[in-house]
Amino acid sequence: MPKAHIVGTGSSVPRRVLTNFDLETIVDTSDKWITRRTGIVERRICSSAEKEGTADLGAQAALKAMEMAGIAPKDLDMIVVGTVTPDRQFPAAACMIQNQLKAENAFAFDISAGCSGFLYGLSLVNDTIRVGSCKNALVIGAERLSSITNWTDRGTCVLLADGAGAVVVSADTKKGGILSSHIQSDGSLWELLYSSYGNSFVPEILSGLDTKPFYLKMEGNRLFKRAVEYLTAIAEKALKENSLSCEDVALLVPHQANIRIIQAVAKNLNISMEKVFTNVEKYGNTSSASIPIALDEANRQGLLKKDDYLLLIAFGAGLTWASSMIRWSI
Ligand code: UT7
Repeated sequence: MPKAHIVGTGSSVPRRVLTNFDLETIVDTSDKWITRRTGIVERRICSSAEKEGTADLGAQAALKAMEMAGIAPKDLDMIVVGTVTPDRQFPAAACMIQNQLKAENAFAFDISAGCSGFLYGLSLVNDTIRVGSCKNALVIGAERLSSITNWTDRGTCVLLADGAGAVVVSADTKKGGILSSHIQSDGSLWELLYSSYGNSFVPEILSGLDTKPFYLKMEGNRLFKRAVEYLTAIAEKALKENSLSCEDVALLVPHQANIRIIQAVAKNLNISMEKVFTNVEKYGNTSSASIPIALDEANRQGLLKKDDYLLLIAFGAGLTWASSMIRWSI
């Protein structure tokens, strides 16, 4: 039976940097508050002057991952994009990316699973490869959260950012690769994080509204507690399924929403922060892009060695949460 191996990683973020000090001029906040409460120092935001949409960022990240993997566009047979901010309601960002890559042999679609979108995609690709229906896949997390950010809401605008990350996953019978995937959701808590309108929920009269109807809304405090609880639980599940302990894990790459969430999860798991990869200070919360961006940085910094156990954990709107245990094989 073939196994799914990550054979290349890539990421792409907009050039424009928005610092906490810049935000001080937009809303009633301070660099001190944002740094202390979230760990975020700066983030990347797409510029309307440049050609930077969700699909553009996703395609750039994909090209870097494909270059590392030595995979040509025609070799891809599946493209999955986790996103809550596709450039258009339809077609899927994945199809726009397929077009940019000229990956004519692939089928392509998006997954809407909040910040867990990338791990949901990885899980699906893992299953598809294992049953022999796919040889080479791209899994991408790509977001332009700035397009749904309420820039007058200090509770959310200091957190959200744009970016994309990608991995190439290939079938191989060699040992290692993706060992387990867990994906979970609880729709009863959808109101903790959502966008007000979209698709069938379009207000009858759009004119006269003083706020964009599709702004992201969040109950940060309640979400924080669920994030810590569910990320801890799904990490423990992955460890148990693979008969591993935190000692065995070389690197934990969690969703980058808030450094305090990450520290609390690390404490619960009794894993040293030295083994936890964080880059939330540079990029803020990029939703489904955060894990593949972090993974690409960790990989390019040489933090992953062959046969290392790598644990990825995500949590986001839905609510959704997910994990993937990987034995690194590059
Ligand atoms: O991506 C996956 C889903 N997202 C998450 O998991 C995010 C989870 N939530 C969080 O990260 C945190 O809850 C936040 C960073 C959003 C907020 O941090 P907090 O420590 O939970 O703060 P809070 O919402 O309890 O607010 C504390 C105070 C409030 O003032 P009062 O009522 O105590 O006077 C807020 O109005 O901080 C105030 N506040 C701010 N002050 C300055 C909220 N946002 C800001 C701000 N600047 N940007």
